[in-house]
Amino acid sequence: MSDRLYIFDTTLRDGEQVPGCQLNTVEKIEVAKSLEDLGVDVIEAGFPVSSPGDFNSVVEISKAVTWPTICALTRAVEGDIRVAADALKYAKRKRIHTGIGTSDPHIRYKFNSNREEILERAVAAVSYAKKFVEDVQFYAEDAGRTDNEYLARVIEAVIKAGATVVNIPDTTGYCLPEEFKAKIEYLVEHVDGIHKATIATHCHNDLGMATANTVSGILGGARQAEVTINGIGERAGNTSLEEVVMTFRSHKELGIETNINATRITSVSRMVSSLMNMPVQPNKAIVGRNAFAHSSGIHQDGVLKNRESYEIIDPKDVGIDENSIVLTARSGRAALKHRLHVLGVDLDKEALDKAYESFLRLADKKKEINDDDVLMIAGQHRANHRIKLDFLQVTSGVGIHSVASVGLDIAGEKFEACASGNGPVDAAISAIKIIIRRTMLVKEFLIQAINKGSNDVGKVHMTVEHDGQCYYGFSANTDIIAASAEAFIDAINKFVR
Ligand code: KIV
Ligand code: ZN
Repeated sequence: MSDRLYIFDTTLRDGEQVPGCQLNTVEKIEVAKSLEDLGVDVIEAGFPVSSPGDFNSVVEISKAVTWPTICALTRAVEGDIRVAADALKYAKRKRIHTGIGTSDPHIRYKFNSNREEILERAVAAVSYAKKFVEDVQFYAEDAGRTDNEYLARVIEAVIKAGATVVNIPDTTGYCLPEEFKAKIEYLVEHVDGIHKATIATHCHNDLGMATANTVSGILGGARQAEVTINGIGERAGNTSLEEVVMTFRSHKELGIETNINATRITSVSRMVSSLMNMPVQPNKAIVGRNAFAHSSGIHQDGVLKNRESYEIIDPKDVGIDENSIVLTARSGRAALKHRLHVLGVDLDKEALDKAYESFLRLADKKKEINDDDVLMIAGQHRANHRIKLDFLQVTSGVGIHSVASVGLDIAGEKFEACASGNGPVDAAISAIKIIIRRTMLVKEFLIQAINKGSNDVGKVHMTVEHDGQCYYGFSANTDIIAASAEAFIDAINKFVR
């Protein structure tokens, strides 16, 4: 007999807190629907009190999603809880996730309080949330560094107050797997009424042990794993959904099952990476580009003789379609639409038409268009920018000074400027600055190739500081100078209205 493990996805809350990963409501709905197709049990849709945008996203996701529970985060504060309950009003299944820091550093430095007062606040928050919803999850923030005896008292008290799920986060990613398992076992043994609630793990990856700690916590008795797609999240990230799910699928002897349709893992991973402009490291377990690539001769020979000699997972089980169609300039609009649909992206007619034009332009420059290219093209047609790059001409080379002339279209009006610089990107950015006339500083600038080959598309990530605030910009183009100028303009569009 297998035990059911509930998958709680927090890509849209903990994952989305990462600078540069912010999504608009339409994009969040797209991710939420893919998570529903993937089979997650709970979607943490946001922290409604934190901003009107987050509130609205929780409302819209609640309307769009059918069967997973929609969860909203709060602090142990009545105002937060009221706002969360309001944001969840359309959810078919709803959960409020409230909590407070329980470790000594949190109690002393964050709250300037003491253990008894924190325990009372925890109970009061759960009792208050119960007035609005039946399903209340409590988090003991920094439980990883909380004294077990005190943690057990808090957990027992919140279960008495009606908590249905008790979340034991390793907020700072500090625990060792043995230690985290022992913590969960301690709660199972010492908390009266523990069987009335589900124990959840929520591990961060600061020491690279998020998945190991989550798996250990589950072996210790937890039955909900809090995860994100691709492991994105604060600092070094959260536990990754794909790693936990595939660990239990690969180790059937552990007797743990989830509701996840693993064949959808690859497409959801790519979609999240593309929407959040967050590249997946090539050697990332399960979803990295090299996760199933065998480069050494000995390995290739072994895999050809029998896949199981070096592979513990059949790539098809996670949705890697080795025969995936590569699109070319001869592929029609229907082929592009179908490929996007397979990748979890459905565009309306207007966006599809524009995407198809970009597709043809790219196919002209780069013979074969793969899934990453297709997702990048789809992403470009979601943004509706007021300032657009109209033209760009640059000189660059060895022994000459770079000069750029730039044309911008600002809400239909045309502007032009010329500037020189110590290289083509510097020249193009200086010319854009002449037109925009604001103080702007490029703080971060990263160029990456998507695949291989000199005809590849370059992705540019940029952070631009303006008025003491940082704004993130992104673009992708086979011309990396144009991609850099577009990423700069993408960031500017976020503060010039
Ligand atoms: O890491 C953490 O402790 C959290 C809580 C808010 C659940 O994200
Ligand atoms: Zn977290």
